[in-house]
Amino acid sequence: MTINVCPVTSEFVAEVGDVDLSQPLDPSDLADIKKAFWKYAVLIFPDQQLTQDQHLEFAKNFGPLEMSISAFRKDDPQRMRLELANVSNLGADDKPLPELSRVRLMQKANQLWHTDSSFKHVPALTSLLYARSIPPVGGLTEFADARAAYDALSGEMKNRLEGLVAEHWYLKSRAKAGFTNFTDVERENLPPVPQVMVRTGPESGRKSLYVASHITRVFGMPDEEGLALAEELIAHATQRQFVHSHRWRVHDLVMWDDRCTLHRGRDFDGQRWSRDMHRATVSDVANTCEQFGISVAAE
Ligand code: OGA
Ligand code: MN
Repeated sequence: MTINVCPVTSEFVAEVGDVDLSQPLDPSDLADIKKAFWKYAVLIFPDQQLTQDQHLEFAKNFGPLEMSISAFRKDDPQRMRLELANVSNLGADDKPLPELSRVRLMQKANQLWHTDSSFKHVPALTSLLYARSIPPVGGLTEFADARAAYDALSGEMKNRLEGLVAEHWYLKSRAKAGFTNFTDVERENLPPVPQVMVRTGPESGRKSLYVASHITRVFGMPDEEGLALAEELIAHATQRQFVHSHRWRVHDLVMWDDRCTLHRGRDFDGQRWSRDMHRATVSDVANTCEQFGISVAAE
């Protein structure tokens, strides 16, 4: 079978058809998927019928799987394998969780622009989100092209960002979304980590901004100044011309390159509708400072 790649724009987001991800892939189909992925950064695979294991097996084609941080979260309903992140609004009984439940409050931070697991020492390379049920209204996911956003920066800003490192902290984005009630175990397991602010795609050779709402500060700058710079870059990268909004259909699998995109979920009525989404996440090869040979400025 030969896959069918339909670009949404010439450089960002493509739909992929004529492929069944539940089966082991023909090597040439996998090579074509990878080629499209490095080019378009977001791939949409409509109408896939996947078990949890088949979802994880497809993800493994891109590298080692990350463990979901719910592994040390006692509150999570644990409806799924520990390699799958629970992005659903449902409890163990498959009923919507209360809006003020811990899980739902923490999920609110997914509505802030971010890239996955940049708060981990080794961040995510790609995330693969699969829709089992979706609300008829709302609950879209938006993606921003951080390569196009980098290209559009002024030369002055590009020079300013050269070699800069930001600190990313899981608790920061949750705090921005109004949640601060972390356990000691969560605090200990999720310390702040450094990540470069500009990175280069190893396959595409394209530079991209690497920023997220997890950023607390930029090394070598006063905290407020660093935070303001991060906010400015996120605002720049998420302008309409860099953004694609994905309206989900049941059984869509969408994968995105966390190294060169930002994303956010949009709100929906979580008491009225179920939105059952599972996410497999593949780890990057190393912390970005190590990858790009940049050390944090002494303070
Ligand atoms: C994610 C995420 C947004 C959404 O799964 O990493 O941020 O729309 N999801 O559910
Ligand atoms: Mn996310």
